Amino acid sequence: MRGLSGRTYIVTGAASGIGRATAARLAEEGATVMGADLTEPSGDDGWSFTTTDVTDEDAVARLVQAAVRLGGGVDGVVTAAGVAGGGAVHLVPRGEWERVLAVNLTGTFLVAKHVLAQMLRQPARADGQRGSVVTIASIEGLEGTAGGSAYSASKGGVVILTKNMAIDYAGRGIRVNAICPGFIETPAASDDPAFSDVRLSLTSQLSMTTHLSMTTQVYMGSPLWIWLKRQGRAHIHPRVTIQEPGGSLPAEARHPLTGGAHAGNT
Ligand SMILES: NC(=O)c1ccc[n+]([C@@H]2O[C@H](COP(=O)([O-])OP(=O)(O)OC[C@H]3O[C@@H](n4cnc5c(N)ncnc54)[C@H](O)[C@@H]3O)[C@@H](O)[C@H]2O)c1
Repeated sequence: MRGLSGRTYIVTGAASGIGRATAARLAEEGATVMGADLTEPSGDDGWSFTTTDVTDEDAVARLVQAAVRLGGGVDGVVTAAGVAGGGAVHLVPRGEWERVLAVNLTGTFLVAKHVLAQMLRQPARADGQRGSVVTIASIEGLEGTAGGSAYSASKGGVVILTKNMAIDYAGRGIRVNAICPGFIETPAASDDPAFSDVRLSLTSQLSMTTHLSMTTQVYMGSPLWIWLKRQGRAHIHPRVTIQEPGGSLPAEARHPLTGGAHAGNT
């Protein structure tokens, strides 16, 4: 599988979970990958790394420059850096609210901002495309959930930010899409006590539907990222994608709770 050779991608949150699996999978596909996270991951998955706090705009600018030095440009980014957190609103300290919003929403904005600026500086490819931005939102950004507060608000912000970016850059050869995973077993989702209410709520919501499995192995999700990257001619914005059991993208994915269409290849 070398379908992405010659392409360069940035993946944030690359030290763990979804980001790490995404970076490894892109590298398997032959892409040059610059991972970013607060601390360097152990092991060698065949991709490069730059220590980056996505809430620090100077650090994000340096990350994009490092990717350009590595691969000669930036063809895509996956913004997987994120934190869980929240609780019932009357119990949430302002600092906790601001921490979650800073990483999940402002961090996504800053990374997208500097990657988009770089893509616009680059000449378009022969097919007129300049690149692809994939944000990792969450089903919680579409539906409220018990104890979600700060996390759900941050992911709802990512969803609408992504839709707006898709509109703004559609005419400039840049595809922008959000992925809204259900529950995926990763360190953040499994270990963080603040996530336990959310997990319970998702479990009860998702048990009402056959469209989403409660637990999806993180690697199983990766083909979805690759699928998005491969849609060179199929412009699939501005839609929000719902992950299906097993990670494959259905021709017509329906929102599990409302029945509305959220994914497509148009
Ligand atoms: N696991 C799930 O069930 C699930 C569901 C929906 C959405 N998501 C989202 O997917 C993304 C990845 O989650 P995950 O489950 O793989 O979590 P994870 O904790 O395994 O990985 C998140 C990574 O982000 C990094 N990170 C945190 N703050 C950062 C910062 N300021 N700068 C740079 N990196 C930072 C962490 O160090 C960590 O390595 C997150 O945005 C999460 O909200 C996860």
